[in-house]
Amino acid sequence: MEDLTPRKQDLDPIEIASRDEIEALQFHRMKRSLKHAFENSPFYRNRFIEHDVHPEDLKTLRDIAKFPFTVKQDLRDNYPFGIFAVPQSRLVRIHGSSGTTGKPTVVGYTQADIDHWANLIARSIRAAGGRPGDILHNAYGYGLFTGGIGAHYGAERLGCTVVPISGGMTERQVTLINDFKPRVIMVTPSYMLSILDEFRRQGLDPRQSSLQVGIFGAEPWTNAMREEIEDAFDMHAVDIYGLSEVMGPGVAQECVETKDGLHIWEDHFYPEIIDPVTGEVLEDGQMGELVFTTLTKEGLPMVRYRTRDLTRLLPGTARSMRRIEKITGRSDDMIILRGVNVFPTQIEEQILKCRGLTPHFQIELSRSGRMDNMVVHVECTPDHSAEDARAKSARDLAHHIKSIVGVSSRVEVCDPHSVARSDGKAKRVVDNRPKE
Ligand code: DLL
Repeated sequence: MEDLTPRKQDLDPIEIASRDEIEALQFHRMKRSLKHAFENSPFYRNRFIEHDVHPEDLKTLRDIAKFPFTVKQDLRDNYPFGIFAVPQSRLVRIHGSSGTTGKPTVVGYTQADIDHWANLIARSIRAAGGRPGDILHNAYGYGLFTGGIGAHYGAERLGCTVVPISGGMTERQVTLINDFKPRVIMVTPSYMLSILDEFRRQGLDPRQSSLQVGIFGAEPWTNAMREEIEDAFDMHAVDIYGLSEVMGPGVAQECVETKDGLHIWEDHFYPEIIDPVTGEVLEDGQMGELVFTTLTKEGLPMVRYRTRDLTRLLPGTARSMRRIEKITGRSDDMIILRGVNVFPTQIEEQILKCRGLTPHFQIELSRSGRMDNMVVHVECTPDHSAEDARAKSARDLAHHIKSIVGVSSRVEVCDPHSVARSDGKAKRVVDNRPKE
């Protein structure tokens, strides 16, 4: 694969500024942002007063720990526009979560917010190896989800030619990749696997495709999956992270030259890692829950938003901004099985070690008596569907899961294309245990 390291002169100067410069900018912006939230959002004003804190109490960046957390339930409780810090007429766009469980959460952007977002996505695409003039196939879903339109504006900002295909109609995705010859693709990693299957179904060699860079995110995926995709397409696969409450995609991005975790765009977002149980702030390097304070957002400033995502903060490498390690999973996706904590990413890693299995999988949880059971449904490759080959893969996978993840499970190796597909985020866990 080609070396795609961007030229220093093409980076935003702040990407490679000194830590002192970055922290000075963060402090200045954090003060302004807390003041804005306090003065213009009744929600924050009340919260700060309840907790007996005032924006003036921020004397150093670390003083942010004095301020209360914000959680997803706060957005639900103030549905739809209750947390916003500008009048609705100043909002130029609304996004939100799908709201499949209860009310959706709604987020809003001023023109300045959209501008920052586009700049950060442009920066992210460049860090991934994209360039002005590239054709970019954008298969993130368009609509209330931030992935599609968020990526779109940033790709245009960088100067790419965007193909706004959105998710779905996999056959057509492959046709357009062949016809338009994009250099860059943006899509969830699980949907990229469906696109890969479709290449093969059509008898096309994915390694001969025009794709050189894939920017994958919106769901957890492992380094093992990176290898799988890079090898299948002969392309670079890099990670993009974000969440709608904090902005959307482009909060953090992996650099193509290092692929060693995601640099947080710290000029716009201040990260902390906390102990998810006690709320205590942890040192860099320690594993915990990621929390963000936005530094420039006008429409919906976020103060210490608890993401539920588990990771740790690491020092900068390709950029001076700190990195997060690839996200292991969300605390709410963590399966506790007979006392052992299990993340779907750990199962993905083991699947990718087994010959003849594909990373199309779903975990089913059930209860018999007092016992919780886990069944891993995983597809075999078409050339591995003979009865004895499947039985061997099932045994191998169950063994790896037991010896490395530490839980007993039943593995069902099923036919190609039999595990439910999504054209966006994959649903990895089906929990059939009775609700308590
Ligand atoms: O998923 C924004 C996004 C779109 C990011 C496209 C990247 C690409 P939400 O729908 O609000 O926003 O979901 C946010 O998705 O808290 C994580 O749990 C998960 N997530 C997002 N990116 C990653 C990633 C978008 N790279 C939630 N790795 C977050 C692991 C991710 N999890």
